[in-house]
Amino acid sequence: MTEGTGAALLLVGCGKMGGAMLDGWLAAGMASRVVVVDQAGLPESVAGNPLVALASGADALPDGFVPDVVVLAVKPQVMDGALPSYRTLVRPGTVFLSIAAGKTIAYFERLLGEGAVVVRSMPNTPAAIGRGMTVAVPNSRVTAAQRELSDRLLRAVGDVAWVEDEGLLDPVTAVSGSGPAYVFFLVEAMAKAGEAAGLPADLAMRLARATVSGAGALLDASPQQAADLRKAVTSPNGTTQAALEVLMAADGMQPVMTAAIAAAARRSRELAG
Ligand SMILES: NC(=O)c1ccc[n+]([C@@H]2O[C@H](COP(=O)([O-])OP(=O)(O)OC[C@H]3O[C@@H](n4cnc5c(N)ncnc54)[C@H](OP(=O)(O)O)[C@@H]3O)[C@@H](O)[C@H]2O)c1
Repeated sequence: MTEGTGAALLLVGCGKMGGAMLDGWLAAGMASRVVVVDQAGLPESVAGNPLVALASGADALPDGFVPDVVVLAVKPQVMDGALPSYRTLVRPGTVFLSIAAGKTIAYFERLLGEGAVVVRSMPNTPAAIGRGMTVAVPNSRVTAAQRELSDRLLRAVGDVAWVEDEGLLDPVTAVSGSGPAYVFFLVEAMAKAGEAAGLPADLAMRLARATVSGAGALLDASPQQAADLRKAVTSPNGTTQAALEVLMAADGMQPVMTAAIAAAARRSRELAG
């Protein structure tokens, strides 16, 4: 890659995640060229963009196209079938950047060959609207420049953290990967509790949804810690304190959340391949 000209990217799988990343790269001017492999064709958002081309597979890339990064954004269950055809692209200058849940670095080295330069990452669903949290781990062949480039590509869909220990991706999956579902369930639980307290169902749901999304936006906009924001809305002997005494009791929400996240991390270890 020539400094300042953007990277040559091959995007394998252009669905929800791949499509969101592609839009982000183009908006940020990060790509000199993007070749997309997806039988569904190019998304409408990139129609007519001269930097983007469609290819039918690894054996049909444009002449002379050598990607700096091959972004693997297909579902984990189709990776076995898709990956071997990309072995021909393995070289020190090309990073294979995977966002597929549960697919390990050892898996990619096995299917692509020992020389493969691999970054494994775990994004979450808010990445589809540019608000994701992604954790990435490099294999030993990734150079500092390749890590920096991978970081910028992932940053197009939200925040990015790097870890060196791949084992951390199981608890990462349990906290941020699966986490959006816990938050959606919080909305359901608050709405149901509101109904039990006497609210009409539709009003209870509207209040729960607006409160969770509004509090999330407030947390995002504030430099304060979550605990400080919580304390700021808790007056002594008030209504919030009455609820928090239940939620924060020894048998309250913390042990349930700890058990839930431990179960997800355990399942992530079982599924890893
Ligand atoms: N969505 C999330 O929130 C999320 C979060 C964390 C990680 N991820 C990971 O991101 C990856 C993509 O997820 P997604 O939600 O974006 O899935 P998706 O919307 O189904 O996108 C995958 C795309 O890949 C295409 N495809 C299938 N086989 C292919 C092949 N051999 N070559 C090229 N393209 C192929 C699919 O086409 P067809 O539909 O025609 O099969 C589809 O357009 C997954 O590995 C998932 O684990 C997703």
